[in-house]
Amino acid sequence: MGAALRDALAAPPPAPFGNRVRLMLLESFDEKKRGGEKLGTYGFIKGAQNFLVGLVHESQHCMEDFGYVFEWAVLVATDLGLATCWVGGTLKRGAFANAAGAEPDEIVPAVSPVGESPGRRRVFDSALRLLAGATKRKPWSELFFDGEFGDRLAKDDAGRFSTALEMTRLAPSASNRQPWRVVKQRDVENYHFYLYRTPGYRKMTAVDLQRIDMGIAMCHFELRAGEKNLPGRWTFEQPDIGNPPKGTEYVSSWVTS
Ligand SMILES: Cc1cc2nc3c(=O)[nH]c(=O)nc-3n(C[C@H](O)[C@H](O)[C@H](O)COP(=O)(O)O)c2cc1C
Repeated sequence: MGAALRDALAAPPPAPFGNRVRLMLLESFDEKKRGGEKLGTYGFIKGAQNFLVGLVHESQHCMEDFGYVFEWAVLVATDLGLATCWVGGTLKRGAFANAAGAEPDEIVPAVSPVGESPGRRRVFDSALRLLAGATKRKPWSELFFDGEFGDRLAKDDAGRFSTALEMTRLAPSASNRQPWRVVKQRDVENYHFYLYRTPGYRKMTAVDLQRIDMGIAMCHFELRAGEKNLPGRWTFEQPDIGNPPKGTEYVSSWVTS
């Protein structure tokens, strides 16, 4: 499968917070031929032999950067007609890190099997998706705000950035929790990204999946803005935005001014 994908993975985009994310494709990965080391996904993914694997050194904002770069890779694979699925919760991280030749302190926050799509969903898969509420996304009114938290941002008021926000809304997230919230600055085309944590979720896995989700959201927003030739860049200075719900954490801002 891999030449085109492998070439692309060798030159990922720079991550917004400046962490280095390494990407690789583990191909024809037959667990039994690897001295018994199991690259398991605990039975959630069956028969996959090819995995997209990402590595990052643990440091501040490494999870947002990982999410941003790994989602870029997932979209490249999708463009090449390959099927993917983020796996960040149910994988043997150590086994993937060994197989990928991880450097000291480098971790594997998530992987994705890559392969041909079987075309139709199997019953187990459909049931899982239903369980995860996978086909649903939160409405604009819960995610996007105008000036301050609580004041809804209507699609029309987002003007030329409305499809960038729509692509953010449709992004994948761990357990489909969609923890991103975006506040448009009043009278200016600056968009401030916040993490609204799902209570109790963080402790469920070794890595902070909802920070990965934030990177995914930033990736979708920026790629769509780029497609539409819209101006802007990421900054990380917390603005003075009113009424943040308790527990909301500032992450980044897309600024045009
Ligand atoms: C960071 C992250 C981790 C994920 N981990 C898993 C996982 O461990 N197992 C799994 O089956 N799906 C996992 N997913 C897939 C999500 O459940 C899926 O993207 C979400 O439910 C939305 O589904 P959809 O994009 O197909 O609509 C993960 C997604 C993300 C973004």
